[in-house]
Amino acid sequence: GSSSSIIYCNFLQCLSFHSQTNPIPIYTPNTSNYSSILEFSIQNLRLLSSTTPKPHLIITPLQESHVQAAVICSRKHGIQIKTRSGGHDYEGLSYVSDVPFVVLDLFNLRSITVDEENRTAWVQSGATLGEVYYRIAEKSGILSFSSGSCPTIGVGGHFSGGGFGAMFRKYGLAADNVIDARIVDVNGRILDKESMGEDLFWAIRGGGGGSFGVIVSWKIRLLTVPPTVTVFTVDKTLEQGATELVHRWQYIAHKLPQEIFVGVIFNVVNEKEKGEKTVQASFVSMFLGGAKKLLILMKQRFPELGLESKHCTELSWVQSTLYFAGFPVEGSLDVLLNRTQPKRFYKAKSDYVKEPISKIGLEGIWRRLLEEEQPQMIFSSFGGRMNEISESEIPFPHRKWNIFMIQYLAYWEGLEATEKQFNWIRKLYKYMEPYVSKSPRAAYLNYRDLDLGQSKNGTATYLQSKAWGSKYFKNNYERLVEVKSKVDPQNFFRNEQSIPTITSFG
Ligand code: FDA
Repeated sequence: GSSSSIIYCNFLQCLSFHSQTNPIPIYTPNTSNYSSILEFSIQNLRLLSSTTPKPHLIITPLQESHVQAAVICSRKHGIQIKTRSGGHDYEGLSYVSDVPFVVLDLFNLRSITVDEENRTAWVQSGATLGEVYYRIAEKSGILSFSSGSCPTIGVGGHFSGGGFGAMFRKYGLAADNVIDARIVDVNGRILDKESMGEDLFWAIRGGGGGSFGVIVSWKIRLLTVPPTVTVFTVDKTLEQGATELVHRWQYIAHKLPQEIFVGVIFNVVNEKEKGEKTVQASFVSMFLGGAKKLLILMKQRFPELGLESKHCTELSWVQSTLYFAGFPVEGSLDVLLNRTQPKRFYKAKSDYVKEPISKIGLEGIWRRLLEEEQPQMIFSSFGGRMNEISESEIPFPHRKWNIFMIQYLAYWEGLEATEKQFNWIRKLYKYMEPYVSKSPRAAYLNYRDLDLGQSKNGTATYLQSKAWGSKYFKNNYERLVEVKSKVDPQNFFRNEQSIPTITSFG
């Protein structure tokens, strides 16, 4: 209506007033670039349909002061902002809402400054993980960072939600290795670790960025790796004894030395001999060392896998990031800088496992996977460094006693199939109940799942929000609510699963 256009008009005036010397780039639905800027980093096709709510404006700050202006003006004029870094949120909370909103897209804020001598780096939120890996490797062959495997993930969402990859058994999560940050708070001030205080600095390392402010940049501790690391993938179908092996893996992987990670990825494939569908378990691994040592270790600890040197590839750490992203390891590193990637329709869910699942339990999983065309499950082994960090060190609480984590994924083609696929993955999730963590049944924030509960744009009470808050954060939920109440008492930074304030107790 016209009252809303007046609000946006005033908002735009406010923005131009606050960025006179160097105007903030703004895109309205009438601007020719609006759609391409909006769609560019939408990773999930089910959130790229014509019925998906679209932002009134997209604001793309070029400098920190633009972020300040966006916060000051949107607050002044009562406009909801959604901060987007890499756009990989599984449920699109960085660019979709039921209420009118604008997107604050940080993709222009992506500088990375590596300090090789002090083994640290400052990374802006709009950078991608691929860019981070590339810039580190440019400076050093023995420095690295511990974060996710998909190079187009944005730093902003990933670091603020945890962030794990093939080295987390050695070094913990991305958020565990953040040593400073710069955030624009609800009053438009820029704060660093010192000035934001212990509580807020704690909250943004795993508590999700969307509830507390706009994090502009992060200082990270770079992590030492040997010049040569080793990767392998061993595939086993059900006919080749996958059930037995996966069952064994559950007792072994989380107890292996911290230098090795062995995960299992499950896909449905066509069996070569009979041409029938079967489940294939791929044991995917990275070892921080050479192949010779790895072969000895695996022979001692997991001989059933039958690892041979033909499975192993020795490479540099940065090449291993190509390997996990599915690129040829001998190819150019430039692919890490490419911010575009194939989009798919999908829905995901997560679980944590504390006791090995019986063979009968596993066989029930296989039967359910075989009902679908493109299902996927990923088991990521925990243990190692993750056991040493306390549950309350940062908001991410899933530490000791977890032997592995599960990610469930349904992929499909075409919007029409959405409901069927949602039903399938929910059924699988229900089936898993007896085998996974209980009270609460825990989940990983970065694998955002609105089935756990949601509110209309962050208006839920403390108790309502606890439905998902306790799953993502366990006992840390309470402290997150306290921090939120202190730093954003009017609940300006909010989304469908944000942290509520204490005043919402009523
Ligand atoms: P996006 O921009 O969508 O933001 C996610 C959330 O954070 C939103 O609520 C947003 O508002 C908020 N936010 C973003 N930037 C912010 C900022 N600067 N300040 C404040 N709030 C901010 N995870 C993992 O741990 N390991 C892995 O290997 C993978 N692999 C993987 C592969 C693929 C293909 C996808 C799509 C996702 C993953 N993930 C993952 C999950 C990933 O870590 C998660 O989706 C991150 O939140 C994505 O961060 P983006 O910045 O890209 O998301």
